[in-house]
Amino acid sequence: MKEIVLSGIRATGQLHLGNYYGALSKFVRMQEEGIYDSNFFIADLHALTTHPDPKILHNNVKSILSEYLASGLDPEKSTIFVQSDVPEISELYLLLNMHVGIGELMRTASFKDKARKQLGIKTENDNDDNIEKEIIGTDSNKRVNAGLLTYPTLMAVDILIQHADHVPVGKDQEQHLELTRRFARRFNSVYGVEYFKEPANFNFGGAPVKVPGLDGSGKMGKSEGNCIYLLDDEKVLRKKVMRAVTDEGPKEPNSPMSEPIKNLFTLLELVSTPDKVKFFTDAYNDCSIRYGDLKKELAQDIINVTAPIRERIIDIQNNDEYLAKAVRMGAEKARARASKTLEDVRQIMGIKRFW
Ligand code: TRP
Repeated sequence: MKEIVLSGIRATGQLHLGNYYGALSKFVRMQEEGIYDSNFFIADLHALTTHPDPKILHNNVKSILSEYLASGLDPEKSTIFVQSDVPEISELYLLLNMHVGIGELMRTASFKDKARKQLGIKTENDNDDNIEKEIIGTDSNKRVNAGLLTYPTLMAVDILIQHADHVPVGKDQEQHLELTRRFARRFNSVYGVEYFKEPANFNFGGAPVKVPGLDGSGKMGKSEGNCIYLLDDEKVLRKKVMRAVTDEGPKEPNSPMSEPIKNLFTLLELVSTPDKVKFFTDAYNDCSIRYGDLKKELAQDIINVTAPIRERIIDIQNNDEYLAKAVRMGAEKARARASKTLEDVRQIMGIKRFW
């Protein structure tokens, strides 16, 4: 029996270089190692927590699916599926919610962040007590929906219903994974069973890759001017890189790098050869560096990575038959295990049929 790997990405738009290095390339590596039973899905139900336009939801699912396949995920080697194609997930979500406290959900960092956003509260001048009062006490509280609150239950179900051993996710998902383990233990202890196992994060033993953005601070995200999409064409991509934030340049030999410059070097390390990284590092250290040259090289090397993927994405997006076949196969495999888990849980919880 192979160990089970499972991960998913929320269907909220196109994937960027950060998703590629942080998630997709790892998924592909796990698939190619061949020692895991690997499962990758598109979390469209999770996307509903923030009310996507019904006209674009399906397209968002389709673009992530195409990006999965274009990056090298292979429906013959991995189970690739859409969350909503596995209705057992929704039923187990209801059952598991009976063992989840609203207090622990309200204390989850991702919930507080999203609730703050929905209520228009600034993060800085707020403490935890306020957010709870705001949610319960204001008229706008309808914007903070129960789906948002129970996001971690749904994610735990994604994982537990497949009995996943390893869940490759970024640091921002660590708390959700911790809750998953807690819910698994709780279920087992409430019913006196050893049924669910506790999943672990997975990083190939190394530190998680950080992919910085272009706006000089923090990691690559979907905000304006910060992010390179796998689907950006060469012109757009060059323009974005050339506009990346820099500083006025080193004044003295061997001076420390500012955050925006460090970020450009981190990107260069991801996409370029060690020789090129060394060349520009030396140039920085002896103050001869020209950021324009660095950016030109960086843009070209990013294009070398993304252009072939972009081509495949476009091809695959136009191949509805291939897309349908891939996720139909995936849904069948995912449902087989999910329905078995659901049946077991119903049994354990004492839900019986008359017929
Ligand atoms: N919450 C994850 C994210 O935003 C997506 C996700 C949903 C997920 N269900 C999952 C990841 C199960 C791993 C396993 O990135």
